[in-house]
Amino acid sequence: MTSHHDTARTTLVDGTDHDQETVHDHHLAEDHRSYDGDQLDREERAALRRVAGLSTELADVSEVEYRQLRLERVVLAGVWTDGTLQDAENSMLELAALAETAGSTVLDGVLQHRQKPDPATYLGSGKAMELRDIVLAEGADTVVCDTELAPSQRRALEDVVKVKVIDRTALILDIFAQHAKSREGRAQVELAQLQYLLPRLRGWGESMSRQAGGRVAGGEGIGSRGPGETKIELDRRRINQRISKLRRDIAGMKTTRDTKRSSRRAHHVPSVAIVGYTNAGKSSLLNRLTGAGVLVEDQLFATLDPTVRRAETQDGRPYTLADTVGFVRQLPHQLVEAFRSTLEEAADADVLLHVVDGSHPDPEGQVAAVHEVLAEVEATDMVEIIAVNKVDLAEQDTLDRLARAYPDAVLVSARTGAGVAGLVQAVEAQLPRPDILVDVLLPYDRGDLVSRVHAEGEVVVEEHNGEGTRLTAKVSPDLHGLLGSYAV
Ligand code: GTP
Repeated sequence: MTSHHDTARTTLVDGTDHDQETVHDHHLAEDHRSYDGDQLDREERAALRRVAGLSTELADVSEVEYRQLRLERVVLAGVWTDGTLQDAENSMLELAALAETAGSTVLDGVLQHRQKPDPATYLGSGKAMELRDIVLAEGADTVVCDTELAPSQRRALEDVVKVKVIDRTALILDIFAQHAKSREGRAQVELAQLQYLLPRLRGWGESMSRQAGGRVAGGEGIGSRGPGETKIELDRRRINQRISKLRRDIAGMKTTRDTKRSSRRAHHVPSVAIVGYTNAGKSSLLNRLTGAGVLVEDQLFATLDPTVRRAETQDGRPYTLADTVGFVRQLPHQLVEAFRSTLEEAADADVLLHVVDGSHPDPEGQVAAVHEVLAEVEATDMVEIIAVNKVDLAEQDTLDRLARAYPDAVLVSARTGAGVAGLVQAVEAQLPRPDILVDVLLPYDRGDLVSRVHAEGEVVVEEHNGEGTRLTAKVSPDLHGLLGSYAV
């Protein structure tokens, strides 16, 4: 995430305000408007990041305008209610990273200190006007708010700033839509998007009609009777139908996945699920641990679909490692629901490998956010190994602090390989071991069983005689069941 930090120019809105709130005059970054040297750099970045016509449309959906967010030049807005200024800034930096991941250029960011967000316009009305000025000065086309806005808030703020306003949830949904690869991932993201959209349908139609020159009917002028309303009703019905269909499809896909999972379980292959905040380095670490070519990108949510890899312990016992979707602060609840099945994979694992980015400004906050989501899928009370990653980048102070907070944590760098051997040992030590001692004589035509005992159990003694293979071994309960009739 560090590479994103420089682009988030968080400026606390200053000056007096109609709102009776404390307003801090505090510039978090150099005000670039008085600093010419930054211009070129900024243009360069913009030139690199802006891909003309980059669209976030999903191919196979109804003509819901919302899918075509096309965020390009954005200004971020946040309200700092409780917690420290540092927390508020971190949240804005994360929002900046999210916006960049979605393909946009972050031009500026404003943070207002208020007791609570304005119920009407999110920022106080005076601040909303200032935001309008910044939007104009920067030539921004979108404002992204660091929250989930009520539909009415979004509309009211849009009326003030006169460009598209979206919230954190819509942004995250958009990123997920861009990154989902598998059929199930796509279906789940689409379901989450539609659920988010449904209560906002009317507002969306209105703002889009204003911006897109009336491409979407509805919401023009006084009231919105007539064709507009009908169109919305139609959309609503179509969306509801689509939601039902997606639910059915997903239920079907889940069965296939469950079957695969239960076959892994029937073979009693111990499983490790890698969890962690987005960009913590889960995929990189999975690659280190298994030598597999999993997509690694300096982007949030490069991994959306669970990747399962096979690995083997030093003494030859197989186990699986599964990468999971990255977590994020305020993960939209629609997505927790949508990804519940994916996360259940984690809940079902024998060991959780929790990767934490040691170079992040607030690793403890990330750990807490991950634990919160895990609690939602009832993945508590599990064997958890914390791996503090990116030690090559992290500050020594942070590492010391983390080592105190999580005494059993293993410090690693997926990039340099430092600490990885120790991590492998820690993981192997936590894997459940086969523990039923058997003594069997397997005829030569049951070579399959001999292989399984070797692969899944621990062979203590092996002898070959005229009748077959005699094995004394430690095995799992189901292998024990299969071997029952060959007991000596
Ligand atoms: P999501 O898919 O968003 O959940 O991310 P992830 O947790 O799978 O992270 P990923 O492995 O894609 O790594 C994110 C970024 O961090 C990439 O740019 C990696 O190259 C970088 N990275 C990962 N591990 C290390 C490390 O140990 N040191 C350094 N310096 N960078 C790392």
